Amino acid sequence: MSQDSTIHTATTSLIAPNIPSYPLTSSVPLKLGIMASGNGSNFEAVAQAIATGQLNAQIQVLIYNNPTAKAAVRAANWGVEAVLLNHRDYKSREQFDGQIVEQLRQYDVEWVILAGWMRLLTPVLIDAFADKIINIHPSLLPSFKGINAVEQALAAGVKIVGCTAHLVCLEVDSGPILIQAAVPVLPDDTAETLHARIQVQEHRILPQAIALAALRK
Ligand code: GRF
Repeated sequence: MSQDSTIHTATTSLIAPNIPSYPLTSSVPLKLGIMASGNGSNFEAVAQAIATGQLNAQIQVLIYNNPTAKAAVRAANWGVEAVLLNHRDYKSREQFDGQIVEQLRQYDVEWVILAGWMRLLTPVLIDAFADKIINIHPSLLPSFKGINAVEQALAAGVKIVGCTAHLVCLEVDSGPILIQAAVPVLPDDTAETLHARIQVQEHRILPQAIALAALRK
């Protein structure tokens, strides 16, 4: 192993705060509703953490808004019910969020996990699950909010990036931070290679963040 890769290996494990002990959370399983728009690798990470006994929770439902979202295929593979709510079928964001709230309630969801949910939330949803919505974002917030966070970081020339799991408030990518992980930017990185490195860490911190948020309650 070269000196460089040693440094990079060490850096990729920088997570704060770290929760070392398993299983995470209380004796009563947390009831999760996961919302995803696309690939769903974070959905998968949460499902894996539950399956391996690291996170004491169950996924009540996946809500997805794009008919072709791979997250729905992943849900089927895990035997998790998936509900398609297509935002294009609603007149307003509020009406759309109202329908989401109704579905989450029907599935008896306690914690809402935004795992690549690419729609802005309104108070209809945020107030219905106050301090119980968790988002994963591919930057070290408060830097690089909004879409294309990885491209923004590359354009800015920063040398350390990462991901943040945080509670959701009305302002985009701004709620209280639960956990962050840092990763290095390598000289030949593209947005794709850098995002892939960040996602490895997303998959580690999201289950931990869910546990941490629940333990704080
Ligand atoms: C992740 O990078 C997440 O941080 C962002 O959207 C992406 C979703 O990835 N909010 P996936 O669909 O979970 O693979």
